[in-house]
Amino acid sequence: MNADARPRSVLDLPGWKAAGRRLVMLTCYDAAFARLLDRADVDVLLVGDSLNQVIAGQETTLSATLDQMIYHAAAVRRGAPGTLMFVDLPFLTYQVSVAEAIRNAGRVLQETEANGVKLEGGRHMAETVQALVERGIPVMGHLGLTPQSVHALGGYKVQGRGAAAADRLLDDAKALEAAGACAVVLELIPAEVARRISAALTIPTIGIGAGPGCDGQVLVLHDMLGLNEGFSPKFLKRYAELGGAVRDAVRAYATEVRGGSYPGKEHSFE
Ligand code: KIV
Repeated sequence: MNADARPRSVLDLPGWKAAGRRLVMLTCYDAAFARLLDRADVDVLLVGDSLNQVIAGQETTLSATLDQMIYHAAAVRRGAPGTLMFVDLPFLTYQVSVAEAIRNAGRVLQETEANGVKLEGGRHMAETVQALVERGIPVMGHLGLTPQSVHALGGYKVQGRGAAAADRLLDDAKALEAAGACAVVLELIPAEVARRISAALTIPTIGIGAGPGCDGQVLVLHDMLGLNEGFSPKFLKRYAELGGAVRDAVRAYATEVRGGSYPGKEHSFE
């Protein structure tokens, strides 16, 4: 196993789990934040299709396109050339046929130098996952609240409640592992269900709203930095309040521009 402070390839992930090392994953959408996250030793960057909400201001992830994902992922890669990076395959780029999934996931790797792709769904995606993995495209799964199915799920609700639903999630997770997935995101499910799934797999689980029993955690960067101030679900911990810091800075700038004190002599050329 890689003894570095961070995993360097998908091959490091099972060893990381076996050694009880928890993976730190954050979403990232641009080069400036990628540089900062790299210097803060984040293990895995996820170019999530949440960028459609966070960056583009849309209600759901559904209208994100492959070209948009590639544009952002290429920027993230330039900011953090050595960090493990996964890119979400957006809605309808992998569900229509295995051939389309291979072509689209292949484009992501070719054009962004990502280490792998992430896709949503369990047993019904196993054939696609296997086809991608067999062609050299590492895949991270995503179970529980799968945002691309928000309309079918009736909203952003906790999934896997009750014995039957929990068993289905476990079977989905095992199917993804058997198909060759290198990790699986567990979103918005009861902590005990996530713990059970994590114990049953040899690949790492990465939780968001899934309690402490996962092998790693992921948050949306803008949410945990306090840049998405209207969003405060129970699972979210804000590690900074940058929204307020941005407002204060912009107000100070505006006051100085309006009052004529910026730019002063020290910011002007002779
Ligand atoms: O799109 C995204 O940001 C995600 C994370 C919430 C896991 O899928």
